[in-house]
Amino acid sequence: MSLVETIEFDVLGDLRGGLISLEQEKNIPFIIKRVYYIFDTKVGVVRGFHAHKKLRQMAICVKGSCTIKMDDGVSVKHVTLSSPSRGLLINPMQWHEMYDFSTDCVLMVLADDFYDESDYVRRYEDFVELVKGK
Ligand code: TYD
Repeated sequence: MSLVETIEFDVLGDLRGGLISLEQEKNIPFIIKRVYYIFDTKVGVVRGFHAHKKLRQMAICVKGSCTIKMDDGVSVKHVTLSSPSRGLLINPMQWHEMYDFSTDCVLMVLADDFYDESDYVRRYEDFVELVKGK
């Protein structure tokens, strides 16, 4: 599983503007059980700081831009999302931190399960231990 997997969505644009359609198990490679979005993020805020044990997610910056630090315990990459037609897959056991939010940023995240705090790994030391144990 590569650390940075992005998907470019088809833009169904015409003279009126753009339109993107997201469909589970088609251009989104999982069942979509939950959608949440992060907006009005204050300047300088960094959020995330966790990995998930099982959850699969797709992050799409539908407006503005932000950068996501991705860390699988072996390497670290930074991905800037600045287009509504680009999605970043956040797979299980990928520590992620979101930063550099533009003031107009709306970061939409699709997830393959409901919110479940027990699926979170919120301590980086625990994340490293879990990665080592694999
Ligand atoms: P938090 O995990 O801090 O967000 P981030 O990953 O951006 O740092 O979530 C903030 C609060 O919202 C926390 O109390 C958990 C809650 N929450 C839900 O209830 N449902 C959700 O789908 C999400 C993502 C968070």
